Amino acid sequence: METLIPVINRLQEVFLTVGAEIIQLPQIVVVGSQSSGKSSVLESLVGRDFLPRGSGIVTRRPLVLQLVNVPPLSERTQQETGMHIFSKEPFLCNIFTDFQEICKEIEEETERSSGGNKGISPEPIYLKIFSPHVLNLTLVDLPGITKVPVGDQPEDIEAQVQQMILSFISNPNSLILSVSPANSDLATSDALKLAREVDPDGRRTLLVVSKLDLMDAGTDALEVLLGRVIPVRLGIVGVVNRSQHDINTQKSIEDTARDEQAFLQRHYPSLASRCGSRYLARTLSRLLMHHIRDCLPELKSRVTVLSAQYQARLSSYGQPVEDHSATLLQIVTKFASDYCNTIEGTATHIQTSELCGGARICY
Ligand code: GDP
Ligand code: NA
Ligand code: MG
Repeated sequence: METLIPVINRLQEVFLTVGAEIIQLPQIVVVGSQSSGKSSVLESLVGRDFLPRGSGIVTRRPLVLQLVNVPPLSERTQQETGMHIFSKEPFLCNIFTDFQEICKEIEEETERSSGGNKGISPEPIYLKIFSPHVLNLTLVDLPGITKVPVGDQPEDIEAQVQQMILSFISNPNSLILSVSPANSDLATSDALKLAREVDPDGRRTLLVVSKLDLMDAGTDALEVLLGRVIPVRLGIVGVVNRSQHDINTQKSIEDTARDEQAFLQRHYPSLASRCGSRYLARTLSRLLMHHIRDCLPELKSRVTVLSAQYQARLSSYGQPVEDHSATLLQIVTKFASDYCNTIEGTATHIQTSELCGGARICY
């Protein structure tokens, strides 16, 4: 997604110039049953290790993760950098620069509103990450679909979680990442079932098949990944996330990605290039690019209308007229042609590079 950043930044400038509303990228929402690997998938997309994960119900409040693109460190003040986490009051937020601390804070925030004993709460936690390496994009991590109340959970936990999920994925500007583990039957996937309720044509649902490494001996997910079991319009991407053991032993993102690729080569050689976390990131970039391209015609007509208005006003002054709109139109058209095409042909990937220099920025 790194490759998209300059495009979006330039495009935002054009939007500002013509006074159009800033381009709104879809928010990406993960849904799936409990422990299917939702938090793990999101984390591999961000390329950082900071979401609480584990067996049982770990994510108990929606986490709205806002990635905010900012100029590199040298061009801004220290105050603007780092990560902000806040619950109710966006202006009283804490700034963190350490991913481990973020993880702890998310856990504590979760306890603050949903109690220590597995309770859930629909009140989102907002986390903003300011970095030159991210797109202006919102990712939402949600509690998993669960059936039987445990701990302090209410009798109607299943209905409550479903309601919470539906409130996020019914937003037509949400891209739904349905996460289903490979070791359970896709036909029983709650994730796909819920996605279909709000997106019956599958225009904004992508299926992620997790835990490819945990299938029973003698079985594989080939049929599922090929879309022969349940076809999914936007695609089906198999992934291998970190196991609990990997998390406990702090296996790095780089090692995880390398092992995932090796696993795919070994078990799904014909599909290896169309699976894995990197491919998932690339697929999302492509979907975002399509979204941007869909916004361009409107931007173009807006430039044309504005230019006609200015022309009319200028000629009413009886001054010689120099037409700047042509330049703007050229910029927009350039995006439509070169930029989109180049980007689609490029292997984009999520940045996992070293921490930026400086004390406050972490990502
Ligand atoms: P969530 O409840 O859907 O957010 O799931 P988590 O991301 O918290 O993952 C639940 C558990 O499953 C954790 O212990 C993860 O390490 C493990 N897990 C997730 N994905 C995979 C995978 O692809 N392979 C293996 N072996 N374990 C996974
Ligand atoms: Na879990
Ligand atoms: Mg989770």
